[in-house]
Order: sequence, then structure tokens, then C-alpha cells
Amino acid sequence: MTAPTTSPAAPGDENGENGGAGKGGRSGKGGEERLPRPDAGGDLFDRDALPAPPGATAALLRSLLAPLKARVAVTCLLLLLQQAAVQAGPLLVAYAIDRAVPALAAGDRGPLIAVGAGGLLCALGAGALQYAFIAVSARVSQDVLLDLRGRIFRHAQALSVDFHERYTSGRLISRSTTDVESLRELLGEGLQELVTVVLSFVSISVLLLWLDLGLGAVAAASFVPLYGMVRVYRRRAREVYRSKSTAMAAVIVKFVETMNGIRPVRAFGREAANDADFAGLNRRHERTNGDALLEMARYVTGSRLIANTAVAGIVLWGAHRVADGSLALGVLAAAVLYLRRLYDPIDRLGMFLNSCQSAAASLDKIAGLLAQTPSVPEPRAPRELPPRASRDPGREVVFERVRFAYRTGGEVLPRFDLTLPAGQTVAVVGSTGAGKSTLAKLLARFYDPTEGRVLLDGVDLRDLAGAELRRGVVMVTQEAFLFSGTVADNIAIGRPDATREEIEHAAKAIGAHDFVTALPDGYDTDVRKRGGRISAGQRQLVAFARALLADPAVLILDEATSSLDIPGERAVQRAMATVLRGRTAVVIAHRLSTVEIADRVLVMEHGRIVEDGTPAELTAAAGRFADLHRAWRDSLA
Ligand SMILES: Nc1ncnc2c1ncn2[C@@H]1O[C@H](COP(=O)(O)OP(=O)(O)O)[C@@H](O)[C@H]1O
Ligand SMILES: [Mg+2]
Repeated sequence: MTAPTTSPAAPGDENGENGGAGKGGRSGKGGEERLPRPDAGGDLFDRDALPAPPGATAALLRSLLAPLKARVAVTCLLLLLQQAAVQAGPLLVAYAIDRAVPALAAGDRGPLIAVGAGGLLCALGAGALQYAFIAVSARVSQDVLLDLRGRIFRHAQALSVDFHERYTSGRLISRSTTDVESLRELLGEGLQELVTVVLSFVSISVLLLWLDLGLGAVAAASFVPLYGMVRVYRRRAREVYRSKSTAMAAVIVKFVETMNGIRPVRAFGREAANDADFAGLNRRHERTNGDALLEMARYVTGSRLIANTAVAGIVLWGAHRVADGSLALGVLAAAVLYLRRLYDPIDRLGMFLNSCQSAAASLDKIAGLLAQTPSVPEPRAPRELPPRASRDPGREVVFERVRFAYRTGGEVLPRFDLTLPAGQTVAVVGSTGAGKSTLAKLLARFYDPTEGRVLLDGVDLRDLAGAELRRGVVMVTQEAFLFSGTVADNIAIGRPDATREEIEHAAKAIGAHDFVTALPDGYDTDVRKRGGRISAGQRQLVAFARALLADPAVLILDEATSSLDIPGERAVQRAMATVLRGRTAVVIAHRLSTVEIADRVLVMEHGRIVEDGTPAELTAAAGRFADLHRAWRDSLA
């Protein structure tokens, strides 16, 4: 399956910075992603779902709760005490009916006062304990939420580029909002339910059996059909909840994708089609939600039916026994009260099972995400680059028998050998899809070669720690993404400790200074809303200044001037000599004007270098470059 070519919201456009129509070079790259179709069913989103390895989910839960062990124990203890206080109620009623009332009739107020005082104490105690429980358990669940969300962010950020090409930002948002939230719910309200249900089951069963063996046995017998119901419900709810969360994720993915790609959405008039798609996804979510509620309703109805039948049976049988004197009235009253309390939490048990279900599904998805390892891992024993003197001409770059294929699609670089001496400026030209950007991305180590090595001054890129690598190689692409913050912040990203002078110096060198000073607050202008106030060309100038300030040994420019107008590009061109001095440079450009400053030109086709020489040599020869060059000359005339 490939993305419809008109798909404006293809996630390849996720950064939305390439401003709409007609940017040929990138438009096909969303190929491995596709638009959610409302009727495509859950499999669309499960297809790429990352299953958690066995045991990972449980291990994640353990690691989340381990630091909170003490507080979890306190929480359970509080609940235990609270239950004891609550469950004392019916016993007091039995005592009041069977002892205190007769004693009062005989003129003794003592037992009644004792019952009253006991009841008050239990009520106060239960309230205080409940308060303490909520306070402690809320902190436990908040801490888990904080921890988990932080882990998701750190992990996702550390994962390699190819992961993010598959796993859309919508899904990441789902993970760190909906999924984290459902776990919090489970640990907050859910945990209380579980402990309450289990405790009241145990304590009430024991109390009932102790009060009267026969009544206790009837109550126990009613557990059998209830247990059956719970099992059936669990099985069905699992299905329903899975499709519900899948449907919710689809809604979020569509939403994020559309808003990220708002420019192409506008440009291609996709609004109506998107509305229809979204409505379909929304309805699917509504339907699955309805199914879940229906399942719940069946469960509640069934369990109430069983509970009420059991209560009615006990009242009937108990009344006869009270009449024939084999059962005290107070005991019957207490038994009925206990039974109500016993069945009450069973309704809530259903809800608890729900949150348990969705929390388990969520935790599973989160564990699956956290189990991903970067495909471009940090080296275990990092090597350092040899020191670079200030007058040093950059670093040598070698591609050694490199083969490369993306996860999807065929081999892009079949076998690639290339040596760039330190300080050389190399222009790479070739038709769209030839593999120029792939070459650049391998050199910037966004991906690792399938075979072979990329060496920087003789050191395999895979052996360089992230920080060392970024000091060595920086790539500027046509995307020119701006983060929220000021223009100065954006320029200083590669060197946060840069002074304002250095920032301005970089901007001046690249010809960005004039437009920046013309902004309302100059360098302190906020580029909020992803650079909405700054044109695409200006964004590229900022990105350029950013790279210049970072001062890497190897600078890669991948169509980095494509959004500039002719005067803008001329300005950059003039600055280029300064910018490229003292470093190795790979300049990928479709405008041949850029090529003139290069020491060497490579023409790439189908992942191979088909021509290699100085601009003068290639222009003189009768090859691809000469043709391109002639066509370009003609277009200028
Ligand atoms: N992320 C990707 N996943 C799969 N295939 C890709 C990806 N990026 C590029 N390709 C494919 O690799 C080939 C070379 O692409 P690219 O290096 O971007 O070419 P160029 O920059 O020369 O236009 C193309 O066939 C393209 O479809
Ligand atoms: Mg390209």
C-alpha cells in the first residue's frame, strides 16, 4: 500500500514546514505511512502496534511501583483499617436489636449508649481513614504518572529517525496522554475498588459464617453464578476495550495529522474529505464506546439480579427461622445488611475490571514503545575524534563499501565508495530520488548503513558518542524547523552558550541580520507558532546561521537554499566562501549556481556516482553534468 499522492496530511509532512504545494523532492516520502481510513478497521493501527515483549508489561509496572513500595503498603493498611471500621456497622445493629433493646426494656441504658458510642466512633474513624487513604493514594498515582510520562518522552526522543517515520506523533501523544491517564485511574480509584472488594468479600464472608452458618452458606453459594458472570464479562470487556482504545487512537492520529499538515490541507482543499474521514473515525469510537457501555449494563443487570434473588431467598428463609426461634432477629437484620454490602461492590467490580482492562492495554502499548531500542544506538565504548586545530581544514569523510536500504523499499545505495578529503567542498547533483538525501542522512548518522562503514577522520560514525558526532557533522535541510522561543534561541540551538555577539556574527555572515533586525523585537522576537511569522526563506536563513554557529567540521546542506529567492540565494552564495572555509562541506543543490563554488562535483543516479570531477572538467566533458549545465545556462539567458 502506498500513500495516495494527493494525501495532504501524509505524515511525511508532519513538521508542516514545507509550506504546501509543489515541493517535489519531499512529497513522496510519506510513502511508508498512510492515511487512516474510517472503515479500515482496527488493524490499520494495530498493524504497526509495537507488541510488548513477554514480561515487559509486568516489569514496567513493577519498576514504576518499586520506588513507591512504602507508600503503597501504607495505602493498603489504611484501607484495611477503614474496612474494619465500616464493617463493624451491621454487627452493632445486631447487638442493638438483640441486646440493647431488651436491656433498655429492662431499664438498662448502658448497652444502648455503648452501641451509639461505638457507631459514632466507627463512622468518624472510617471517614478519617478514607481521607488519609485518598491523600496517600492520589500521591502514589500522581508520582507514577509523572514518572511514566517522563520516561515516554525521554525514550521517544532518544529513538532514531526511522522509528519516528513509522510511529506517528499522534500515536506518541496517545501514549503519553490517554494511556498514561488510564493507568493513573487504575492506580487511583481502581486500586481502592479492588482492595475494597477483596477485603469486603473476605471479611463479610467470615462474619456471615460466624453469625450463622446456614445464612453464610447461602451467601457463599451465590458467589458461584456471580463468579461466572465476572469471567464472561472480563472476556468480552477485553475485546470491547481493545477496539475502543484503538478507535480513540485513530481519532487522535487523524486530528494531529490534519492539523500538522494544515497548509497542504488548505492548498489541496482536503477539508471536506478530512471532515468525512474524521466523522467516520469519531463514529467508530462512539460505536465502540457504546458497545463497552452495553457490556457494562448487561453485567450490572445480571449481577443485581443474582444479588437480589439471594437477598430475597435469605429474607424468606430467615423469616421462617426467626418465627420458629432458631435465628435472632438482629442476626437476620445484620445478615441482610451485610449481603447488600457484599453485592454492592460487585457492580463497581465491573467498573474496576474495565479500568483494569484499559490500563492493561495501555500499559502494554507503553511497554511496547519503551521496549524499542534506537536503531542508531550510542556506542558502548565511544571513541574520540583526533583534535582539530583552529586552522585545520575540516575532517576527512570516507564511505567504505556502504550499502543501504530503508526499512521499506529496495536498496537505495547498492555499493557506495567515496572519499572526501578534509576541507573539500563537494556539490552533489542528480535527479530526484537518486539517493542524495540518503547519502547526507547516512553521513549525519540518522541511519546506519546496512553494510560497510562511514568514517570521519578514520573513526566509524557508530563509534562516536552523540555529542562528539554533532560537533563533527551538522546537516541543514530544506525543512528549517523553528522551535518556540526567540530568533536568537533558535540560532543558538547548536551552541546554547553562544554570546549575543556570536549569534549576530553568524546571522550577519549568512545574510540574515537585516531581516532579523527588522522584526518587531529583533533577535528577541518570539517565533511562536512554529515560525508562523517568518517566511520559509527566512527560516532557512535562521537554520543556516544555526549551523554556522555550531561550527561543525563537516557541514551538509541538503537543498538548504531551496526556499530562498534569487537575491537571498545570491547572498548566501556570497557568504558561502566564509561559511565553508575550514570545513568539509557536502552541498546538495538543484540550482547549479551553488555548484560553482564547489571544488568537486558528484553526479548521482540510482544510488551510484556516475560522474566525478571539478565543475570545469565536468562542464567540458560530454556527460550528464554538461547537459544539466547547458540547460541551466540556457534557462538563465
Ligand atoms: N524514509 C524513507 N523510507 C523509505 N524509502 C525512502 C525514505 N527516504 C527516501 N526513500 C527512498 O530512497 C530513494 C532515494 O531518496 P533520496 O535519498 O531522498 O533521494 P534524493 O534526495 O536524491 O531526491 C528514493 O527512492 C526514495 O523513495
Ligand atoms: Mg533529497
